[in-house]
Amino acid sequence: MNDELSGKVALVTGSSRGIGRGIALELAAAGCDLMLTGRDTAALEAVAAEIRSLGRRASVHAADLTASTDADLTASTEPAVLAAALDKAFGRLDILINNAGAVRRSNFFETSDAEWQDGFALKFFAHVKLARLLWPKLKASGGSVIAISGIGARAPVPDYMIGASVIGASLAFMKALAQIGKRDGVQVNTVNPGSVDTDRFRHRLTRIMAKTGLEQEAAIEHHRRELDITRFGTVEDVAGLVRFVVSPRGRWIHGSALDIDGGQVGPLRMSVYD
Ligand SMILES: NC(=O)c1ccc[n+]([C@@H]2O[C@H](COP(=O)([O-])OP(=O)(O)OC[C@H]3O[C@@H](n4cnc5c(N)ncnc54)[C@H](OP(=O)(O)O)[C@@H]3O)[C@@H](O)[C@H]2O)c1
Repeated sequence: MNDELSGKVALVTGSSRGIGRGIALELAAAGCDLMLTGRDTAALEAVAAEIRSLGRRASVHAADLTASTDADLTASTEPAVLAAALDKAFGRLDILINNAGAVRRSNFFETSDAEWQDGFALKFFAHVKLARLLWPKLKASGGSVIAISGIGARAPVPDYMIGASVIGASLAFMKALAQIGKRDGVQVNTVNPGSVDTDRFRHRLTRIMAKTGLEQEAAIEHHRRELDITRFGTVEDVAGLVRFVVSPRGRWIHGSALDIDGGQVGPLRMSVYD
């Protein structure tokens, strides 16, 4: 089972760090060659070196995917330039992981239109554009596309309103795309992580420690209880699920939105008066 994706080419957006990096390494371990993208060239090159040390090919294309605001996919837009780089490096695509995203928490009444637009520009429109642009390649290979979305739309809260709205739009888009996928032989799914131990989590932990005076392990336990989850996720938890979904054994999973969150999305509150 170690090289079940041997000979496949995967593009992972936001693969310079965090969950995207973890997915890229996991897919390489499963036999994939990788196209890596993000803005930080040095970080991307470091991931590429790790992938090459596993005996796989890796190519790097640094790009700011929010920079592409054109309605049309002209050759000069970032997704189109990325697609051309992919074509030049590998000439095919089997797996597209739309992972890049960075939506800040904010107070609704203090949030500017620009912040709303920014939230959608990367985690929604860049995903839509890449899926549309690379669809012919995915169709040719009988490939797979996954959006790394989030649980924010399952139970939206006011201070993560942009994120929840972006995720809601993404879930609808991916569900509709899955209908086209059935016709064209492309597998389409969404993975919704809960709270994963990445850089952002470590920043939050620092704030919790400062606020509560707790040591690191105690602060993690304090926060785990607050969120009522079994434990915090790891990048490997999410990457392992992605690997399974795109592997032959996961192929029947289609049009699904898979929560992987240690139970963070809770039960509905029921009336006690019935
Ligand atoms: N971590 C969690 O707990 C969690 C939970 C639910 C959902 N998610 C979702 O999972 C995905 C990955 O999250 P993460 O925690 O791994 O995030 P992260 O550590 O902040 O990494 C984000 C990735 O996106 C890239 N990126 C950011 N802005 C970009 C831009 N303008 N253009 C191109 N690439 C850009 C970053 O690369 P550069 O810095 O090199 O540009 C980086 O590789 C996101 O979509 C996030 O919303 C995460």
